[in-house]
Amino acid sequence: MSLSQTIDFDLDLINRYNTAGPRYTSYPTAVQFHEGLDADRYAEIARGTNASGRPLSLYFHIPFCDTVCFYCACNKVVTKDRAKARPYLDRLYKEMALQGELFDRSRPVTQLHWGGGTPTFISHDEMIELMDKTREHFRLLDDDTGEYSIEIDPREVHDDTLALLRKLGFNRISLGVQDFDETVQKAVNRVQTEAQVMSVLDEARRLGFRSTSVDLIYGLPHQTPDTFGDTVRRIIEVNPARISVFNYAHLPDRFKPQRRIDEDALPNPADKLTILQQTIQQLTEAGYVYIGMDHFARPDDELAVAQRDHTLYRNFQGYSTHSNCDLIGLGSTSVGVVGNSYSQNHHDLEKYYQCLDENRLAVFRGVELDTDDLLRRDVITRLICHFELAFADVERAHGIVFGDYFAQELEGLKPMEADGLLKVTSNAITVQPAGRLLIRNICMVFDRYLRQATEQRYSKVI
Ligand SMILES: C[S@@+](CC[C@H](N)C(=O)[O-])C[C@H]1O[C@@H](n2cnc3c(N)ncnc32)[C@H](O)[C@@H]1O
Ligand code: SF4
Repeated sequence: MSLSQTIDFDLDLINRYNTAGPRYTSYPTAVQFHEGLDADRYAEIARGTNASGRPLSLYFHIPFCDTVCFYCACNKVVTKDRAKARPYLDRLYKEMALQGELFDRSRPVTQLHWGGGTPTFISHDEMIELMDKTREHFRLLDDDTGEYSIEIDPREVHDDTLALLRKLGFNRISLGVQDFDETVQKAVNRVQTEAQVMSVLDEARRLGFRSTSVDLIYGLPHQTPDTFGDTVRRIIEVNPARISVFNYAHLPDRFKPQRRIDEDALPNPADKLTILQQTIQQLTEAGYVYIGMDHFARPDDELAVAQRDHTLYRNFQGYSTHSNCDLIGLGSTSVGVVGNSYSQNHHDLEKYYQCLDENRLAVFRGVELDTDDLLRRDVITRLICHFELAFADVERAHGIVFGDYFAQELEGLKPMEADGLLKVTSNAITVQPAGRLLIRNICMVFDRYLRQATEQRYSKVI
């Protein structure tokens, strides 16, 4: 393993820095989105990006789930009625037609993602249709060079589902595993067997999916270091290219199904930290490197390679090696990153449907980045992805003198430097192994809006 990709687990530091903070899938964060950026403004911005000829990235949100997992914080609609997909897809096709008109057909789609909810809630015929319609409006790559990924719930995979997805052009999957322990699974209403998970992973390998990723969650009810350690051990045995270990965010006021979780059964903060520490130890001993923000990868995985080469990038879809795309968000709640803007579609299905029935895009809010936002986003992205920041790179890209522009922030980093989270020299910031788990805290120093924020909307950092 490259030394630069190691982490130190320092309990005292983690306890001290475990405050609320954003995850920086965007900067500015969604708190800054406003309705001044509407569908008309979005269309103008989108047309303006064609001169660049940049490739495109498409995100499709499929919100439906057959049953609810009590912990879930994703945007979803729980229903047993598979017919619900039809009216949704019809609107999605309408939206694709409207979006497709804004972007030059010559721009290749180098990245495509189906997320959810549960993308495999829709039938095989609907999957084929969705990809065909996409091809009508966008230039998909047919040579498997794109990064085409889909989120898979192992309970929703039938005999030939993966073969079909591979044929449709997908070359990556991420699999929702969460925890193998039966007591935990029952407590969160997410019961699936290890055999179901393993057969999906085996099949994905056989079919030549380039990368498989597994999602785990720590902090769920009834989890102990022993039981979760066992889940991690079993996952390591099958050696997926990537493993995400999410911190369960218990916010029952915001996510209704979480009210069905017995709070007394949740691991206490000390146990949670033990679970995290043990998981990091298990994964690093097995050869995984820490990419950042809950994500681990095998050292030969392209994310780990990109991190070493400083070509890693992060956006709403997580880490990626494709930085130079305009991201088009399709479906309810989807976020687009087009030109120097973020834009978001209506969450509410009725409103989403209504817009498209009236032949309008469903964008209802967003934000355009000014030069200060672009600069700070660049700084935050570099820190999160590479754990280091050469001032000269930022100065060259943005025409500033780092030490002058960020004098206040550099002052703000001093206590963190004293605590060993990072080193600041006259020309660079280098995050130390002890600061890697606390990268959000470091980024927060560069967040101009956070200073103005009055309420705590975010989950805890660890
Ligand atoms: C949209 S789901 C993945 C696809 C599919 N619906 C599934 O569950 O298999 C995305 C992932 O978010 C994570 N997740 C959902 N709610 C969470 C929460 N409250 N805290 C932490 N992680 C969560 C889970 O690991 C889940 O696999
Ligand atoms: S974790 Fe996945 S399957 Fe479960 S409710 Fe959330 S989106 Fe649906």
